[in-house]
Amino acid sequence: MPEQQLIDQAEGLRRMVRPRPVRVIAVTGGKGGVGKTSLAVNLAIALAELKRRVMLFDADLGLANVDVLLGVHPQYNLSHVLSGERSVEEVLVEGPEGIQIVPAASGTQKMAELTRAEHAGLIRAFSELSHSPDVLLVDTAAGISDNVIAFTRAAQEVVVVVCDEPASITDAYAIMKVLNRDYGVNRFHVVANMTRSAQEGRELFAKLTMVADRFLDATLSFLGAVPFDEEIRKAVRRQRPVLTAFPRSRAAQAFRQIAQRVDNWPVATGASGHLEFFFERLVQGAPSDAELMP
Ligand SMILES: Nc1ncnc2c1ncn2[C@@H]1O[C@H](COP(=O)(O)OP(=O)(O)OP(=O)(O)O)[C@@H](O)[C@H]1O
Ligand SMILES: [Mg+2]
Repeated sequence: MPEQQLIDQAEGLRRMVRPRPVRVIAVTGGKGGVGKTSLAVNLAIALAELKRRVMLFDADLGLANVDVLLGVHPQYNLSHVLSGERSVEEVLVEGPEGIQIVPAASGTQKMAELTRAEHAGLIRAFSELSHSPDVLLVDTAAGISDNVIAFTRAAQEVVVVVCDEPASITDAYAIMKVLNRDYGVNRFHVVANMTRSAQEGRELFAKLTMVADRFLDATLSFLGAVPFDEEIRKAVRRQRPVLTAFPRSRAAQAFRQIAQRVDNWPVATGASGHLEFFFERLVQGAPSDAELMP
């Protein structure tokens, strides 16, 4: 066998035994309705267009969540994985461009309150996936609940969606403050959504940076702006992502540009670059066996 072929085969085998690194990105923002789910869904599809294997984790139980936006009807969800009734593969729903969606768990199970068995089951379930994704995108709920914090602090990268409204700016700052002060998250990527001009996005970012520079020990970077675009709303009514429903819209172009930037981020190697690591961090704070004793 030619030497090159042997080397290729060896690399192929190594890849099979060594899982590829995964990039875990949480999309958050504090305020409701700022466009977190729209960004998560469209970014997932734009990354899939770039040939990345994408898993979209719906961590929100709100009304306009991932399955509603995409018109998919999941039979099972994360709670079935937690209870051990289903494997992750059985729960996954396929979305546009082959993205894999983990539907939101019904009920209000708190990640930090999982039992040891659920904790171990969750980590095992995701580590047993036959095809681990290149990117895991986590769409979080509005607010700063325990679950939002748990999902966000466990991710490698945090994207904060903000609109040019005082409540959105205040909430975005509030969530960054908690994550930075209490959990040592020191890097945030900001997306300005529903902007009315190119300048508005930059100005919005400058406003946030000004406060963050004074009060936080964190670096903010501007990931991009998504213009206010009626096509997004039209697409929502059709239960389709704007990226596939109106691929030439200004919003779709903006999402693609953001995806290009995300795709150029360096990938974490070592332990933090693996899916198990994310789930381990996600359930940190779960009660120990002793605490569960009556
Ligand atoms: N750039 C935009 N231009 C116009 N409409 C938008 C834009 N981004 C989002 N929207 C609309 O705003 C509404 C809220 O968006 P979305 O559900 O993505 O927000 P969210 O932050 O996930 O909300 P929630 O906090 O409830 O989860 C949707 O109807 C969506 O169509
Ligand atoms: Mg949402």
